[in-house]
Amino acid sequence: MTKDSNPEFKRRISLLESHVGFKLETILKHALKARDSYTLEHSERVVFLAEQIGHQMGLNEHQMDILSLAAGFHDIGKIGIADQILLKPGKLSGDEYNNIKQHPIIGANMLRSLGNPVLEEVALCVLHHHEQWDGKGYPDGLQGEEIPTISRIIAVVDAYDAMTTTRSYRSEIEIQQALEIIRQESGKQFCPEAVQAILELRSKSHLNSQTCS
Ligand SMILES: [Fe+2]
Repeated sequence: MTKDSNPEFKRRISLLESHVGFKLETILKHALKARDSYTLEHSERVVFLAEQIGHQMGLNEHQMDILSLAAGFHDIGKIGIADQILLKPGKLSGDEYNNIKQHPIIGANMLRSLGNPVLEEVALCVLHHHEQWDGKGYPDGLQGEEIPTISRIIAVVDAYDAMTTTRSYRSEIEIQQALEIIRQESGKQFCPEAVQAILELRSKSHLNSQTCS
């Protein structure tokens, strides 16, 4: 199924339009496609699973809207990262890693530039999607509940998808192994509530290789 015919993608675009009040579809779709196919496909998978976790955690309707949009555009700031860094097959140097760490800031600034209050909320969640529960993340080193709930959900799903999806520099590992790593990082890298939610989805068999392929 192409993104153009994906009903979930269309639903989120219309959701965005209803909040923003003018048509952004062309800009945002082309912006994501302009990066690399992995980023677009990864973002689609993150939305799918993040929404399940949001429901599992009992988010209200407005929070679910923000979650859906933030998950879809969490990595849009990668547009501002050079190809030789973003697509580098080997280990990143310190400077390269520092450069790629700018993508949440770039993405948040892009979303804020539209001057829309809903996108302002989305931007805040995008800005903090690489924060860690123990304060060791970036860009601001926020800790625990200082980090927006939606950002904490995206962080778990982002890691899960990265560990269970083959890309140029990473081989696929078993879902169970990925979930075990996430479980071990509960209260360290990840929010315990979000970890519990993804493990509960697994126990209900709502999380399998089909959901994230
Ligand atoms: Fe990211």
